[in-house]
Amino acid sequence: MARSQSPLDPQDRNACPRPPLALHPVRAVVTGGAGFIGSHLVEELLGRGDAVHVVDDLSTGCIDNLAAVATHPKLRVTVASVADPLVAARLCQDADIIFHLAGVVGVQRLATEPLAVMQCNLHSTERVVAAAAAAKVPVLLTSSSEVYGDGQVPFREQDPVRPGATEGLRGGYACAKAMGEWLAFGHAEQTGLPVVVVRLFNTVGPRQSGDHGMVLPRFVAQALRGDAITVYGDGEQTRCFAHVGEVVKALADLAMAPGAAGRVFNVGSEIETSVWQLAQLVRERANSRSPIVRVPFAEVFPVGFVDPIRRVPSLVRLRATIGWAPSAQLSAIVDELVAAGRAELGVAGAASVR
Ligand SMILES: NC(=O)c1ccc[n+]([C@@H]2O[C@H](COP(=O)([O-])OP(=O)(O)OC[C@H]3O[C@@H](n4cnc5c(N)ncnc54)[C@H](O)[C@@H]3O)[C@@H](O)[C@H]2O)c1
Repeated sequence: MARSQSPLDPQDRNACPRPPLALHPVRAVVTGGAGFIGSHLVEELLGRGDAVHVVDDLSTGCIDNLAAVATHPKLRVTVASVADPLVAARLCQDADIIFHLAGVVGVQRLATEPLAVMQCNLHSTERVVAAAAAAKVPVLLTSSSEVYGDGQVPFREQDPVRPGATEGLRGGYACAKAMGEWLAFGHAEQTGLPVVVVRLFNTVGPRQSGDHGMVLPRFVAQALRGDAITVYGDGEQTRCFAHVGEVVKALADLAMAPGAAGRVFNVGSEIETSVWQLAQLVRERANSRSPIVRVPFAEVFPVGFVDPIRRVPSLVRLRATIGWAPSAQLSAIVDELVAAGRAELGVAGAASVR
Protein backbone atom coordinates (compact mmCIF):
# COMPACT_ATOMS: atom_id res chain seq x y z
CA MET A 1 0.00 0.00 0.00
CA ALA A 2 1.37 3.44 -0.90
CA ARG A 3 0.84 6.71 0.90
CA SER A 4 1.38 10.27 -0.12
CA GLN A 5 4.39 12.24 1.03
CA SER A 6 3.82 15.53 2.84
CA PRO A 7 6.41 18.19 2.05
CA LEU A 8 7.68 18.19 5.64
CA ASP A 9 7.18 15.72 8.47
CA PRO A 10 6.32 17.14 11.93
CA GLN A 11 9.84 16.41 13.20
CA ASP A 12 11.30 18.49 10.39
CA ARG A 13 9.07 21.42 11.29
CA ASN A 14 10.18 21.25 14.93
CA ALA A 15 13.82 20.36 14.33
CA CYS A 16 16.29 22.62 16.06
CA PRO A 17 19.27 23.37 13.81
CA ARG A 18 22.16 21.45 15.39
CA PRO A 19 25.71 22.08 14.21
CA PRO A 20 27.16 19.76 11.55
CA LEU A 21 29.08 16.66 12.67
CA ALA A 22 32.22 18.15 11.11
CA LEU A 23 33.40 20.65 8.53
CA HIS A 24 35.72 19.96 5.58
CA PRO A 25 38.59 19.43 5.49
CA VAL A 26 38.42 16.69 8.11
CA ARG A 27 40.42 13.75 9.33
CA ALA A 28 37.89 11.06 8.59
CA VAL A 29 37.86 7.40 9.58
CA VAL A 30 35.94 5.12 7.22
CA THR A 31 35.27 1.70 8.74
CA GLY A 32 34.60 -0.81 5.99
CA GLY A 33 36.48 1.54 3.65
CA ALA A 34 37.79 -1.31 1.49
CA GLY A 35 34.24 -2.47 0.75
CA PHE A 36 31.91 -1.50 -2.07
CA ILE A 37 30.30 1.68 -0.71
CA GLY A 38 33.20 2.47 1.63
CA SER A 39 35.78 2.59 -1.16
CA HIS A 40 33.62 5.05 -3.15
CA LEU A 41 33.19 7.18 -0.01
CA VAL A 42 36.97 7.20 0.48
CA GLU A 43 37.43 8.53 -3.07
CA GLU A 44 34.73 11.16 -2.49
CA LEU A 45 36.28 12.40 0.78
CA LEU A 46 39.82 12.48 -0.61
CA GLY A 47 38.43 14.40 -3.58
CA ARG A 48 37.00 16.99 -1.15
CA GLY A 49 40.43 17.44 0.45
CA ASP A 50 39.87 15.31 3.55
CA ALA A 51 42.44 12.97 5.09
CA VAL A 52 41.06 9.43 5.30
CA HIS A 53 41.94 6.52 7.58
CA VAL A 54 40.40 3.24 6.35
CA VAL A 55 39.90 0.51 8.95
CA ASP A 56 38.76 -2.76 7.40
CA ASP A 57 39.29 -6.43 8.25
CA LEU A 58 39.01 -7.37 4.55
CA SER A 59 36.42 -10.04 5.38
CA THR A 60 34.39 -9.09 2.30
CA GLY A 61 36.23 -5.97 1.16
CA CYS A 62 39.52 -5.92 -0.69
CA ILE A 63 42.49 -3.58 -1.02
CA ASP A 64 42.07 -3.54 -4.81
CA ASN A 65 38.87 -1.55 -4.28
CA LEU A 66 41.14 1.32 -3.24
CA ALA A 67 43.44 1.00 -6.27
CA ALA A 68 42.44 4.39 -7.70
CA VAL A 69 43.64 6.20 -4.55
CA ALA A 70 46.28 3.75 -3.32
CA THR A 71 49.13 6.27 -3.52
CA HIS A 72 47.13 9.25 -2.28
CA PRO A 73 49.21 11.04 0.38
CA LYS A 74 46.17 11.59 2.61
CA LEU A 75 45.08 7.93 2.67
CA ARG A 76 46.01 5.54 5.48
CA VAL A 77 44.80 1.94 5.70
CA THR A 78 44.67 -0.29 8.78
CA VAL A 79 43.67 -3.93 8.39
CA ALA A 80 41.84 -4.82 11.61
CA SER A 81 38.42 -5.63 12.97
CA VAL A 82 36.49 -2.79 14.56
CA ALA A 83 34.73 -5.38 16.73
CA ASP A 84 38.00 -5.38 18.73
CA PRO A 85 37.57 -2.68 21.43
CA LEU A 86 41.27 -1.74 21.23
CA VAL A 87 41.01 -1.17 17.49
CA ALA A 88 37.81 0.82 18.00
CA ALA A 89 39.52 2.98 20.62
CA ARG A 90 42.62 3.53 18.47
CA LEU A 91 40.70 4.55 15.37
CA CYS A 92 39.23 7.47 17.30
CA GLN A 93 42.66 8.97 17.95
CA ASP A 94 43.32 11.98 15.69
CA ALA A 95 39.89 11.63 14.03
CA ASP A 96 37.35 14.42 13.49
CA ILE A 97 34.57 12.10 12.32
CA ILE A 98 33.89 8.40 11.87
CA PHE A 99 31.88 7.06 8.94
CA HIS A 100 30.89 3.61 10.19
CA LEU A 101 30.19 1.32 7.23
CA ALA A 102 31.84 -1.91 8.40
CA GLY A 103 29.34 -4.72 8.45
CA VAL A 104 28.38 -8.05 7.00
CA VAL A 105 25.85 -7.60 4.21
CA GLY A 106 24.02 -9.73 1.71
CA VAL A 107 20.84 -11.75 1.93
CA GLN A 108 22.73 -14.91 1.01
CA ARG A 109 25.10 -14.49 3.95
CA LEU A 110 22.12 -14.16 6.25
CA ALA A 111 20.74 -17.47 5.02
CA THR A 112 24.04 -19.33 5.40
CA GLU A 113 25.81 -17.51 8.25
CA PRO A 114 23.11 -15.80 10.29
CA LEU A 115 25.22 -15.62 13.45
CA ALA A 116 28.15 -13.94 11.73
CA VAL A 117 25.81 -11.39 10.15
CA MET A 118 23.96 -10.56 13.35
CA GLN A 119 26.98 -10.61 15.68
CA CYS A 120 29.33 -8.69 13.41
CA ASN A 121 26.82 -5.95 12.70
CA LEU A 122 25.77 -5.59 16.31
CA HIS A 123 29.17 -5.88 18.00
CA SER A 124 31.14 -3.78 15.53
CA THR A 125 28.64 -0.93 15.86
CA GLU A 126 28.49 -1.31 19.64
CA ARG A 127 32.29 -1.03 19.90
CA VAL A 128 32.62 1.84 17.42
CA VAL A 129 29.95 4.05 18.98
CA ALA A 130 31.19 3.35 22.53
CA ALA A 131 34.75 4.29 21.56
CA ALA A 132 33.54 7.34 19.67
CA ALA A 133 31.49 8.48 22.64
CA ALA A 134 34.49 8.07 24.97
CA ALA A 135 36.73 10.04 22.59
CA LYS A 136 33.97 12.55 21.66
CA VAL A 137 34.30 11.87 17.92
CA PRO A 138 31.05 12.34 15.92
CA VAL A 139 29.72 9.31 14.03
CA LEU A 140 27.79 8.84 10.81
CA LEU A 141 26.35 5.34 11.06
CA THR A 142 25.12 3.40 8.04
CA SER A 143 22.00 1.36 8.69
CA SER A 144 19.65 -0.32 6.24
CA SER A 145 16.20 -0.08 4.69
CA GLU A 146 15.77 -3.64 6.00
CA VAL A 147 14.74 -2.12 9.36
CA TYR A 148 11.39 -1.12 7.80
CA GLY A 149 10.54 -4.77 7.05
CA ASP A 150 7.16 -5.04 5.36
CA GLY A 151 5.95 -1.61 6.47
CA GLN A 152 3.90 0.78 4.39
CA VAL A 153 5.71 2.58 1.55
CA PRO A 154 7.17 5.12 1.19
CA PHE A 155 9.10 4.39 4.37
CA ARG A 156 9.55 7.45 6.57
CA GLU A 157 12.34 7.73 9.09
CA GLN A 158 9.90 8.26 11.97
CA ASP A 159 8.02 5.02 11.17
CA PRO A 160 8.37 2.13 13.61
CA VAL A 161 10.96 -0.50 12.69
CA ARG A 162 9.51 -3.90 11.75
CA PRO A 163 12.27 -6.52 11.75
CA GLY A 164 9.69 -9.34 11.84
CA ALA A 165 9.36 -12.64 13.63
CA THR A 166 12.46 -14.08 15.30
CA GLU A 167 11.73 -17.45 13.64
CA GLY A 168 12.32 -15.75 10.28
CA LEU A 169 16.07 -15.18 10.10
CA ARG A 170 15.92 -12.23 7.75
CA GLY A 171 14.85 -9.96 10.59
CA GLY A 172 18.10 -10.69 12.43
CA TYR A 173 20.08 -8.37 10.16
CA ALA A 174 17.39 -5.70 10.41
CA CYS A 175 17.29 -6.03 14.17
CA ALA A 176 21.08 -5.79 14.52
CA LYS A 177 21.07 -2.66 12.37
CA ALA A 178 18.16 -1.13 14.32
CA MET A 179 19.86 -1.95 17.63
CA GLY A 180 23.00 -0.23 16.33
CA GLU A 181 20.90 2.86 15.71
CA TRP A 182 19.47 2.73 19.22
CA LEU A 183 22.92 2.26 20.76
CA ALA A 184 24.20 5.29 18.85
CA PHE A 185 21.25 7.40 19.97
CA GLY A 186 21.69 6.07 23.52
CA HIS A 187 25.24 7.41 23.53
CA ALA A 188 23.97 10.65 22.00
CA GLU A 189 21.51 11.03 24.86
CA GLN A 190 23.86 10.08 27.68
CA THR A 191 27.15 11.54 26.49
CA GLY A 192 26.15 14.15 23.90
CA LEU A 193 27.78 12.16 21.06
CA PRO A 194 26.83 13.80 17.75
CA VAL A 195 25.32 11.07 15.56
CA VAL A 196 23.73 10.87 12.12
CA VAL A 197 22.09 7.60 11.05
CA VAL A 198 21.70 6.83 7.35
CA ARG A 199 19.38 4.05 6.19
CA LEU A 200 20.70 2.95 2.83
CA PHE A 201 18.40 1.46 0.21
CA ASN A 202 19.65 -0.72 -2.67
CA THR A 203 22.93 0.82 -3.73
CA VAL A 204 24.56 -0.33 -6.95
CA GLY A 205 27.59 0.45 -9.08
CA PRO A 206 31.14 -0.59 -9.89
CA ARG A 207 32.96 -2.89 -7.45
CA GLN A 208 29.79 -4.37 -5.94
CA SER A 209 30.20 -8.12 -5.59
CA GLY A 210 27.43 -10.53 -6.57
CA ASP A 211 28.94 -13.22 -4.33
CA HIS A 212 26.62 -12.62 -1.39
CA GLY A 213 23.25 -12.34 -3.09
CA MET A 214 23.30 -8.75 -4.41
CA VAL A 215 20.88 -8.91 -7.27
CA LEU A 216 22.26 -6.57 -9.94
CA PRO A 217 25.88 -7.80 -10.09
CA ARG A 218 24.57 -11.37 -10.03
CA PHE A 219 22.27 -10.71 -13.01
CA VAL A 220 25.03 -8.97 -14.96
CA ALA A 221 27.47 -11.84 -14.41
CA GLN A 222 24.84 -14.42 -15.44
CA ALA A 223 23.91 -12.46 -18.57
CA LEU A 224 27.54 -12.03 -19.62
CA ARG A 225 28.32 -15.71 -19.09
CA GLY A 226 25.21 -16.75 -21.00
CA ASP A 227 23.85 -18.52 -17.91
CA ALA A 228 20.18 -18.41 -16.94
CA ILE A 229 19.31 -15.18 -15.14
CA THR A 230 17.72 -16.50 -11.95
CA VAL A 231 14.89 -14.47 -10.44
CA TYR A 232 14.01 -15.58 -6.92
CA GLY A 233 10.24 -15.77 -6.35
CA ASP A 234 7.78 -14.40 -8.93
CA GLY A 235 9.93 -11.34 -9.69
CA GLU A 236 7.06 -8.95 -8.90
CA GLN A 237 8.89 -7.63 -5.82
CA THR A 238 10.22 -4.14 -6.45
CA ARG A 239 13.40 -2.39 -5.38
CA CYS A 240 14.78 1.13 -5.88
CA PHE A 241 18.37 1.29 -7.13
CA ALA A 242 20.66 4.28 -6.56
CA HIS A 243 24.15 4.77 -7.97
CA VAL A 244 26.90 4.47 -5.38
CA GLY A 245 28.61 7.65 -6.62
CA GLU A 246 25.50 9.67 -5.74
CA VAL A 247 24.93 7.82 -2.47
CA VAL A 248 28.41 8.62 -1.11
CA LYS A 249 27.91 12.31 -1.95
CA ALA A 250 24.82 12.21 0.28
CA LEU A 251 26.85 10.59 3.09
CA ALA A 252 29.57 13.24 2.87
CA ASP A 253 27.01 16.07 2.64
CA LEU A 254 25.00 14.78 5.62
CA ALA A 255 28.12 14.74 7.77
CA MET A 256 28.63 18.44 7.02
CA ALA A 257 24.96 19.50 7.16
CA PRO A 258 23.57 21.73 9.92
CA GLY A 259 20.47 20.15 11.46
CA ALA A 260 21.41 16.56 10.59
CA ALA A 261 22.83 15.49 13.97
CA GLY A 262 20.56 13.37 16.12
CA ARG A 263 18.46 12.21 13.18
CA VAL A 264 17.87 9.35 10.77
CA PHE A 265 17.93 9.80 6.99
CA ASN A 266 16.83 7.53 4.15
CA VAL A 267 19.26 7.55 1.23
CA GLY A 268 18.27 5.84 -2.00
CA SER A 269 16.29 6.09 -5.17
CA GLU A 270 12.49 6.47 -5.16
CA ILE A 271 12.03 4.81 -8.54
CA GLU A 272 10.68 1.28 -8.27
CA THR A 273 11.75 -1.49 -10.62
CA SER A 274 10.50 -5.06 -10.30
CA VAL A 275 13.16 -7.75 -10.12
CA TRP A 276 11.70 -9.28 -13.29
CA GLN A 277 12.02 -5.93 -15.11
CA LEU A 278 15.59 -5.65 -13.85
CA ALA A 279 16.42 -9.07 -15.30
CA GLN A 280 14.93 -8.05 -18.65
CA LEU A 281 16.85 -4.76 -18.64
CA VAL A 282 20.15 -6.50 -17.90
CA ARG A 283 19.53 -9.12 -20.62
CA GLU A 284 18.74 -6.39 -23.15
CA ARG A 285 21.64 -4.07 -22.29
CA ALA A 286 24.11 -6.97 -22.17
CA ASN A 287 22.80 -8.11 -25.55
CA SER A 288 22.59 -11.57 -24.01
CA ARG A 289 20.67 -14.71 -24.99
CA SER A 290 20.41 -15.87 -21.38
CA PRO A 291 16.96 -17.20 -20.48
CA ILE A 292 15.28 -15.55 -17.48
CA VAL A 293 13.99 -18.19 -15.08
CA ARG A 294 12.00 -18.01 -11.88
CA VAL A 295 13.38 -19.98 -8.93
CA PRO A 296 10.96 -20.60 -6.05
CA PHE A 297 12.04 -18.64 -3.01
CA ALA A 298 11.94 -21.77 -0.85
CA GLU A 299 14.61 -23.41 -3.04
CA VAL A 300 17.11 -20.68 -2.27
CA PHE A 301 16.34 -19.49 1.24
CA PRO A 302 15.45 -21.15 4.54
CA VAL A 303 11.86 -21.60 5.69
CA GLY A 304 10.39 -18.39 7.12
CA PHE A 305 12.73 -16.21 5.07
CA VAL A 306 10.50 -13.56 3.55
CA ASP A 307 11.26 -11.02 0.84
CA PRO A 308 9.46 -7.68 1.28
CA ILE A 309 7.25 -6.91 -1.74
CA ARG A 310 8.17 -3.23 -1.95
CA ARG A 311 10.87 -1.02 -0.47
CA VAL A 312 10.60 2.68 -1.29
CA PRO A 313 12.16 5.53 0.71
CA SER A 314 10.55 8.83 1.54
CA LEU A 315 13.22 11.42 0.73
CA VAL A 316 11.32 14.37 2.22
CA ARG A 317 13.67 14.74 5.17
CA LEU A 318 16.82 14.23 3.09
CA ARG A 319 15.75 16.82 0.50
CA ALA A 320 14.90 19.35 3.22
CA THR A 321 18.34 18.89 4.78
CA ILE A 322 20.78 18.59 1.87
CA GLY A 323 18.62 18.99 -1.24
CA TRP A 324 19.80 15.61 -2.51
CA ALA A 325 18.02 13.75 -5.28
CA PRO A 326 19.47 10.87 -7.27
CA SER A 327 19.57 11.37 -11.02
CA ALA A 328 21.39 8.33 -12.48
CA GLN A 329 19.17 6.28 -14.81
CA LEU A 330 19.06 2.55 -14.09
CA SER A 331 19.74 1.73 -17.76
CA ALA A 332 22.91 3.84 -17.63
CA ILE A 333 24.01 2.10 -14.42
CA VAL A 334 23.43 -1.29 -16.05
CA ASP A 335 25.46 -0.18 -19.10
CA GLU A 336 28.32 0.82 -16.80
CA LEU A 337 28.24 -2.53 -15.01
CA VAL A 338 27.99 -4.51 -18.24
CA ALA A 339 31.03 -2.67 -19.62
CA ALA A 340 32.97 -3.30 -16.40
CA GLY A 341 31.87 -6.95 -16.35
CA ARG A 342 32.95 -7.45 -19.95
CA ALA A 343 36.35 -5.95 -19.21
CA GLU A 344 36.74 -8.21 -16.17
CA LEU A 345 35.53 -11.42 -17.79
CA GLY A 346 37.01 -10.66 -21.20
CA VAL A 347 33.75 -11.80 -22.80
CA ALA A 348 33.24 -9.15 -25.47
CA GLY A 349 33.25 -11.73 -28.24
CA ALA A 350 32.06 -14.70 -26.21
CA ALA A 351 29.26 -17.02 -27.32
CA SER A 352 26.92 -15.66 -24.65
CA VAL A 353 26.69 -12.38 -26.48
CA ARG A 354 24.56 -11.88 -29.57
N1 LIG B 1 25.00 -2.20 -0.54
C1 LIG B 1 23.78 -1.87 -0.17
O1 LIG B 1 22.87 -1.81 -1.01
C2 LIG B 1 23.47 -1.56 1.28
C3 LIG B 1 22.12 -1.40 1.64
C4 LIG B 1 21.83 -1.13 2.97
C5 LIG B 1 22.84 -0.95 3.91
N2 LIG B 1 24.14 -1.11 3.53
C6 LIG B 1 25.17 -0.93 4.57
O2 LIG B 1 26.27 -0.19 4.03
C7 LIG B 1 27.49 -0.65 4.63
C8 LIG B 1 28.50 -0.98 3.52
O3 LIG B 1 27.95 -2.00 2.70
P1 LIG B 1 28.65 -2.50 1.37
O4 LIG B 1 27.58 -2.81 0.40
O5 LIG B 1 29.73 -1.57 0.98
O6 LIG B 1 29.24 -3.90 1.85
P2 LIG B 1 30.71 -4.49 1.70
O7 LIG B 1 30.65 -5.91 2.20
O8 LIG B 1 31.25 -4.26 0.35
O9 LIG B 1 31.53 -3.60 2.73
C9 LIG B 1 31.58 -3.86 4.11
C10 LIG B 1 33.04 -3.74 4.53
O10 LIG B 1 33.13 -3.91 5.94
C11 LIG B 1 34.29 -4.72 6.20
N3 LIG B 1 34.08 -5.32 7.51
C12 LIG B 1 33.15 -6.23 7.89
N4 LIG B 1 33.26 -6.51 9.19
C13 LIG B 1 34.27 -5.73 9.66
C14 LIG B 1 34.84 -5.54 10.94
N5 LIG B 1 34.39 -6.20 12.02
N6 LIG B 1 35.89 -4.68 11.05
C15 LIG B 1 36.35 -3.98 9.98
N7 LIG B 1 35.83 -4.12 8.75
C16 LIG B 1 34.80 -4.97 8.60
C17 LIG B 1 34.34 -5.69 5.04
O11 LIG B 1 35.61 -6.28 4.85
C18 LIG B 1 33.94 -4.79 3.88
O12 LIG B 1 35.06 -4.16 3.31
C19 LIG B 1 27.14 -1.83 5.52
O13 LIG B 1 27.08 -1.41 6.85
C20 LIG B 1 25.75 -2.24 5.04
O14 LIG B 1 24.98 -2.80 6.07
C21 LIG B 1 24.48 -1.42 2.24
